[in-house]
Amino acid sequence: CEAELRLLITSDVRAVPMVAGHLMDAGGKRLRPALTALGARAVGLKGDCTQLMCVGELIHLGSLLHDDVVDTAATRRGRAAAHEVYGNPVAVLTGDFCLARAVLLAAEVGGLVAVTELGRAVPEMAEGEVLQLQRAGDLSCERGAYFEVVERKSGALIGWCAAAGAWACGDAGAASALQRFGRAVGIAFQITDDVLDYRAGTGKRVGADLRERKVTLPLLHAMRRLGDLRAVLSDHAPSDEEVRELVVRIEASGALEAALQEAREIVDGGIAELAQLPASDARRGLEIMGAYLVERAS
Ligand code: IPE
Ligand code: IPE
Ligand code: MG
Ligand code: MG
Repeated sequence: CEAELRLLITSDVRAVPMVAGHLMDAGGKRLRPALTALGARAVGLKGDCTQLMCVGELIHLGSLLHDDVVDTAATRRGRAAAHEVYGNPVAVLTGDFCLARAVLLAAEVGGLVAVTELGRAVPEMAEGEVLQLQRAGDLSCERGAYFEVVERKSGALIGWCAAAGAWACGDAGAASALQRFGRAVGIAFQITDDVLDYRAGTGKRVGADLRERKVTLPLLHAMRRLGDLRAVLSDHAPSDEEVRELVVRIEASGALEAALQEAREIVDGGIAELAQLPASDARRGLEIMGAYLVERAS
């Protein structure tokens, strides 16, 4: 899959592999390819599935290139974000290249249903990102608004990745169970991502969401626990000093643990969906990965 990814970003327009390679070579967990592989094996898909595994990662690469522009993020995967090195225009256009390349690949190796479903998942991601952007700084947002964003921006693609192999081999029943599993895992994964915003070691800047005043699940829990927090954030975007202080207070309040507990429950619901698949090492692998994605520290 790694070798395949490298081939997929080749282009005679040299800036394209340079910018995409900047992000790809920085590492990343490759959890979307892993979910595709496990999902495919869990439904008995035989043979090489490395190309199918690359679809979700290419979409992810494109969305990260775009996301870091939108979020004005300085770092990604422990290095300078691509737009910081190459500028916004080429980062955005390389993101488009990755997204479109993924769609072509899905059509080639996943078949009509898989590519059609991808055509549903990618607009959902964009909708999630737009909704979140519009709501940044609106401290009156509540849980429903948060879940509306994360289901789209993270649930949709991870759901696709888990179900891709089942669509590729025409098993509609297994595909919908895997898609529901993946969506649940994607939501829980995003809750953990939002918790990790308060913790060091992710290759991203600590407190980036807080600085942008994004109303995430851990922040909602924190606002319930710390009486002054909503008013402080409604008043102004916190300074670096205030962010540092708030990060410590929010961790101490137990809000992060409360959000993680919700994520665990959501994953358990997702894992229950897998009961209709035959027992196998791959199914067990999906269960282990779902649980890991909540507990991870990076
Ligand atoms: C980060 O995703 C962006 C989100 C969707 C929250 P990952 O945590 O999977 O990022 P990498 O690929 O491991 O860098
Ligand atoms: C990541 O979202 C991008 C998508 C899911 C499309 P975030 O902005 O929440 O993730 P990080 O924290 O930058 O990785
Ligand atoms: Mg971001
Ligand atoms: Mg974002």
